[in-house]
Amino acid sequence: MKLQQLAEEKVGFLIVFTFLVISVGLLIEVVPLFFTKSVTEPAPGVKPYNALQVAGRDIYVREGCYNCHSQMIRPFRAETERYGHYSVGGESVYDRPFQWGSKRTGPDLARVGGRYSDEWHRIHLLNPRDVVPESNMPSFPWLARNAVNAEATVRHMKALRMVGTPYSDEEIEKAPQDLANKSELDAVIAYLQGLGLALKNVR
Ligand code: HEC
Repeated sequence: MKLQQLAEEKVGFLIVFTFLVISVGLLIEVVPLFFTKSVTEPAPGVKPYNALQVAGRDIYVREGCYNCHSQMIRPFRAETERYGHYSVGGESVYDRPFQWGSKRTGPDLARVGGRYSDEWHRIHLLNPRDVVPESNMPSFPWLARNAVNAEATVRHMKALRMVGTPYSDEEIEKAPQDLANKSELDAVIAYLQGLGLALKNVR
């Protein structure tokens, strides 16, 4: 019996062959990444998120901003002219999970840090139409009313440290202090303003 006939007639063999093919693909494509410095070590200037940014990132995920915004600039001219240097692996080493995405109802945010003032973001997040009249981005007015959840953020920083983000005891200890009297809006803005700065001026 030929191999092909075996795979077509016996579902058990089909499963085994499929598994083998995928395993080889995985070995060749994925395994080398674990040993490639450019994707396992931070790009020059990339630092772990501070406490306020960790809180902001959690809110970004909770609010589903990623459903409309990607955070990955592809290496094409149309993209780099609009957004800046294309994204590199070493910029995402502290992103767990990464927010690359591909759905762009709104613009890519990978290098939005520093593009607008904090005040612009404040107005925009509370009601995007106040600064971009044709915008169809939803308003997020509750962000200004909610205080940051310091306890959850500290827990998250400890978890991130367990998986490899190099936070010191001191950074984690003073996190509640850094988060005191901060609103969720402050946190999201701190997160946005830190995005993509490391390669911002590289062309
Ligand atoms: C339903 C889709 C949608 C969701 C959800 C959404 N946005 Fe937007 N966003 C847009 C669109 C469309 C624009 C472009 C128009 C504008 O600037 O308002 C935009 C623009 C932006 C900009 C300006 C980007 C630039 O380079 O001009 C920022 C910053 C931003 N959004 C942040 C957020 C954050 C943070 C969240 C989650 C709290 C979020 N967005 C959720 C659709 C969305």
